[in-house]
Order: sequence, then structure tokens, then C-alpha cells
Amino acid sequence: MKNTDLLKQYGQEHLLRFYDELSEDEQKSLIEQINQADFTLLDALQHKDQNKATDDKGGSLAPLGALEIDEIKKNRAEYEEKGLEAIRAGKVAALLLGGGQGTRLGFDGPKGSYNLGVTRDFYIFQAQINNMLDVCKQAGCYFPLIIMTSDKNDVETRRFLKEKNYFGYPEEKIRFFRQDMAPSVDFNGKIYLEGKAQLSLSPNGNGGWFKSLVKSGLDKELAESGVEFINVFSMDNVLQRICDPVFIGATLLSGCNCGAKVVAKNAPGEKVGALCLKDGLPTIVEYYEMGDELAAEKDENGKLKYRFGVILNYLFSLKRMYEIVDGKMPLHIVEKKIPYIDEKGVLIKPETPNGYKFEYLATDTVRDMLSCLSFEVEREREFAPIKNKEGIDSVVSARELLAKNGIIC
Ligand code: UTP
Repeated sequence: MKNTDLLKQYGQEHLLRFYDELSEDEQKSLIEQINQADFTLLDALQHKDQNKATDDKGGSLAPLGALEIDEIKKNRAEYEEKGLEAIRAGKVAALLLGGGQGTRLGFDGPKGSYNLGVTRDFYIFQAQINNMLDVCKQAGCYFPLIIMTSDKNDVETRRFLKEKNYFGYPEEKIRFFRQDMAPSVDFNGKIYLEGKAQLSLSPNGNGGWFKSLVKSGLDKELAESGVEFINVFSMDNVLQRICDPVFIGATLLSGCNCGAKVVAKNAPGEKVGALCLKDGLPTIVEYYEMGDELAAEKDENGKLKYRFGVILNYLFSLKRMYEIVDGKMPLHIVEKKIPYIDEKGVLIKPETPNGYKFEYLATDTVRDMLSCLSFEVEREREFAPIKNKEGIDSVVSARELLAKNGIIC
């Protein structure tokens, strides 16, 4: 069998441990998974440094500053008009990063199908689509909505949205594509088996979105229809404005290749990435990479120096995305709890992290864009992330923030 050499080279022969017990179909499926798996990811483990991406070589850090709320208010009409014009001309599409597993929420289904409601049904997908419909109403047209899923939730995501009639968004404007998967390994770099004929694979992080979009061929459909900018956004934030004309207009007028919505951090240690300049390029430094001292540094006005945190809502130039698509992205190696089968074939669900997953992050794309407009939004009106069931960034906190914005659910 030709891939035994590959398995040997990477020390992964154990993946065939149960091979002889498998049916012919299962054997085929296992070999197919091995052929498809990207073993080169494992090389990254050799220069792994916890909490740092594989290419992180430090660099000089400076604040980037932002187009702040007061400034935006002054020019709002101009930005809005420019943004609406771009939407009406079909130059903007929205892309929802829906490939995550939402493990912190602990919900057994696509995160978007989680029902937030207490007094009525109100799903995360519904919140996002309602936000988009507001803009469509204002613009008088619909923009393309592209939804990234993963092998783990694709079927269920499509089924759910269809059953709910896409919450009123026109079906012909919606497209789906699947993101790539990456193997999960133990602390010694051995790929886990999830079943006797099943490698442990998980979505490869939200940063692979453009490569996977190109693989699906959907990028061509967008480019041919005249799309020039893609508003990439996360599933978590149920208050965010998507394809916000003011944000789009300001980014276009700035001439930057990218725009990023940011909020002023509520504390130095808040768990959001800070948009900074690193060696002169726009760069997002994750909260766990920054260190407490730097995060607490103040500027001459007594404000936090690195006070603008990203909320995973970006506008990316399609032209620039094509220029960088073949480039190598930094790889993040993250400790996670990974279910696996042991040598006897018994399924183990660990209570503490037992290995690594490999992830690319959308935040890393910002640096490759070379220029980025940092665009401040009011956190009370646009930032209600759902990561957990309760506590900070949770279903409960999001419900309260929705209510403050007149959305009772
Ligand atoms: P998170 O980083 O919060 O990850 O995703 P997650 O998988 O949803 O949740 P946890 O960490 O397991 O609790 C931020 C956004 O990126 C998307 C998510 O769907 C969410 O919109 N994402 C994440 C992907 O699309 N693909 C991935 O591989 C990871």
C-alpha cells in the first residue's frame, strides 16, 4: 500500500491498528482519509510555542488608532451613501463563518440553530439574518450571503435553514461551501482515531475561508457577478450589523484593502484581539499573546494604548485576497479536549485537554491586507457575542444586550 511510507515518515502507523478488523468499505474510507489528510501540518509541532502562531517572530508593536465613533457620526451621511451605492451595484457579499463547533456553548447542533428565546423562538441564525434584512430594506436589494460550513455541520445547517425558510432571506441569494478539515493529535503528535475507521478530524479554523471558497469554485461566481468586497463575519455576535453601509462606505473611501470593526475594550484583559501595528503592518494581537503589562499600558490621554478590540467583522478586498491566496498562513496549535478511541477501541471523552488541533485564523489575514481601516462601533449596540451558556459572552448576556436594543426574545 503506497501510503505506508507516508505513515512511517510521520510516525503515524498506528492509524492502521484496526485495519484488519474493518470491512472493505471501511478500509477504503480510512485509506481515503489518510490520503486526504494534510500531514505537513504535523511539521509545525516541531517549532511549536504555546500561544504563538508558527511564524511569530516578534516585531515592534504600536497602536493603530481607529476611525472613532464621533468622527464617524460627523461623516455618517457620506459613508452611508457610498456604502449603499456599493451594495446596490452588487459589489459586496456577506460571508458567514459557520464552520465552528461551538464547543463552549455545549450545544449538539450547528451554533446558528441554537434557540436563544425565552418568550418566543429566536435562533442565532435568525438574529443574523434579521440584521441583514434591515440593510436590504434600506438598500432596496439583497446581497449574496455565503455560508461556510464544515463536514461536521453542513447537512444539518442546510436542513435547518431550509426548514426555517431561510428566515426570510431569498434562497437564490444564498450559497454554501465547506471548509477544510485538519487532523487532531495527542501531545506526542500522533493523530487520534475517533473510530476504528475514522481519523479525528476537525475544522481547520476560520482562517482557511478563502482557500476553501476558491476550492468550492464559488469565488468565481462572486467575481463574475461583480463582487469586489466580502464582509466576513462570525456566528457569535447577534447584534452585529452585517454589510453595514456606513462601515462599507468608510472603508471604500479610506482606500484600504480591508476594514475591521472594533470596540473599545471594557478592560485591559478583555478576551478580544487588539488591532495594532506590528512592524508597520495592521496586525491583530490576541489577548493571550499580548501580556498583562502591555495590555494595561496607557497613552498620553490616560486611555488604554491598545484599546481597540476586533469583533470578527471584516471587509476584505477580493482582489487582494486573490493576491495572497497561495501564500502560507501562520498555523495556530491549540490545546483541546479531543474524543478518541484507545488501543482497545474504547471511546474516551477527556475532561481536560489531551492534545492539539491545528487552526488558521481569519485575524491573520488582516496583516496580509497591508492596509486596514479600524472602524469603531458602539459595543452596547453592536457587540453581543455568544461563546458560553452563562456568564461572560453568553446566551444570558446576549439576551440582555438584545433587550437593551429593543429585541425581546
Ligand atoms: P470560535 O473561535 O468561537 O470557535 O469561532 P467555535 O468553534 O465557534 O467555538 P468553540 O471555540 O468551539 O467554543 C469564531 C467564529 O469562527 C467560526 C465559528 O463558526 C464562529 O463564527 N469558525 C471557527 C469557523 O467557521 N471554522 C472554524 O474552524 C472555527
